[in-house]
Amino acid sequence: YGVGATAFRAGARRGDLVARLESDRALQLAPYDVYDELRATPVHRGGVVWASTDHAAVTRVLRSDDFIVGAGGAELPGPLRGLTGRLLDPWAAGPVDPPSMLATNAPDHTRYRRLVTRAFTARAVSGLEDRIRETAERLLDGLDDGSSRSGSADIVERYAALLPVAVIADMLGVPDEMHGRLLEWGNIASVTLDPSLSWRDFRRAEDAMRSLHLWFADHVRALQADPGDDLISRLAVLQGEEQLTDLELRATGLLVLGAGFETTVNLIGNAVATLEAHPEQRAALRDDPSLWAGAVDEVLRHDSPVQMTLRVAQRDTEVLGVEVPARTAVVAYLGGANRDPAVFDDPHAFDLRRPNAGAHLAFSSGAHFCLGASLARREAEVGLRLLYERFPDLAVAGHPVRRDTRVLRGYERLPVALGERV
Ligand code: HEM
Repeated sequence: YGVGATAFRAGARRGDLVARLESDRALQLAPYDVYDELRATPVHRGGVVWASTDHAAVTRVLRSDDFIVGAGGAELPGPLRGLTGRLLDPWAAGPVDPPSMLATNAPDHTRYRRLVTRAFTARAVSGLEDRIRETAERLLDGLDDGSSRSGSADIVERYAALLPVAVIADMLGVPDEMHGRLLEWGNIASVTLDPSLSWRDFRRAEDAMRSLHLWFADHVRALQADPGDDLISRLAVLQGEEQLTDLELRATGLLVLGAGFETTVNLIGNAVATLEAHPEQRAALRDDPSLWAGAVDEVLRHDSPVQMTLRVAQRDTEVLGVEVPARTAVVAYLGGANRDPAVFDDPHAFDLRRPNAGAHLAFSSGAHFCLGASLARREAEVGLRLLYERFPDLAVAGHPVRRDTRVLRGYERLPVALGERV
């Protein structure tokens, strides 16, 4: 625990680029130049951890059976165990602790994933579109003070954060009055994804995860007694071979819940900030709303809400000519791969008409490809389109503040002036 932070600080003092990136807050806020430097080789051999920002190499690491997710850190050499699987208490297990899907490999991973996939197919998500629209409209009504000229608001707090939590909570049978507390616990717990973590943040995250587990166990009991038409009710009544243990059910449910709201908030916030900087592209969206789908993918590529993930080589292997010994941990910088000039022309430019924006790795690739990709895209498309339809003159006003997290990239605060209401 906390080893990640110490190892990275020591590595940074030795001049290790990855260690510097992971321990220097200024670089974390603007990582894209370092990503470019790292791309000099397909896989960079860092002192603490190896890393890649090369699109082809990252794709290979994510898709190859030679690499697995570091379940609980068991496969990692001693000092690196702090990078993953830090919460060993089953009543505080987090998103990167087994038996979370994100931290398990086949065959368990396949079993967990199969149970929940159906709720998130593109077709299932199409069926949710009306609910997404209604929720967005309701939240926009709440932003609006009724006068023709509305005031200012923190668009993250009042909109971008609330839409995803409302949608996923609905899918999981969670009552509305829990949204606020879930956001609070989820925000605190989300730092456990980060490779460099202080003891203080770790302790706070552990407490928040424990609260989530205790609440979720009650939620499951309530649904077992009185099942609804939601995903958790369906998981809670499985029998025979499919039946999940209490811990598996909590891990699966809490992952889907947290992943459902901790990430999409960043996509929506990053989109608002990016469009502010590109008024001509924003005007194009107003003239032609069919551009929104491409714009959302371009935001995912250009300022990826999930910047990185980690894999461990389970045998000696090779990635684009670089030999990678067994047990080597490799950081796959998704946000870096998404700026690879070998795939994306002029990669640092934001261009919502970019023909291959969808080739990004913002949702990862391979066995762990984001389960909620269709849902996230739909929430962002509908949510952003309705936001700008209602407030066409919306403008960032005041000082945006980035979230203090490394894996998740987004805004903690994004104050806007809403402008004329339509
Ligand atoms: C996995 C990104 C929204 C559920 C992932 C991974 C990424 C990702 C990068 C894979 C990590 C890895 O390979 O190690 C995102 C982004 C989102 C988003 C950028 C929004 C912009 C959602 C939503 C849900 C969701 C709305 C709702 C259910 C999951 C789950 C996994 C996952 C359950 C684990 C899949 C597995 O391990 O098999 N996501 N996600 N995500 N995501 Fe998302």
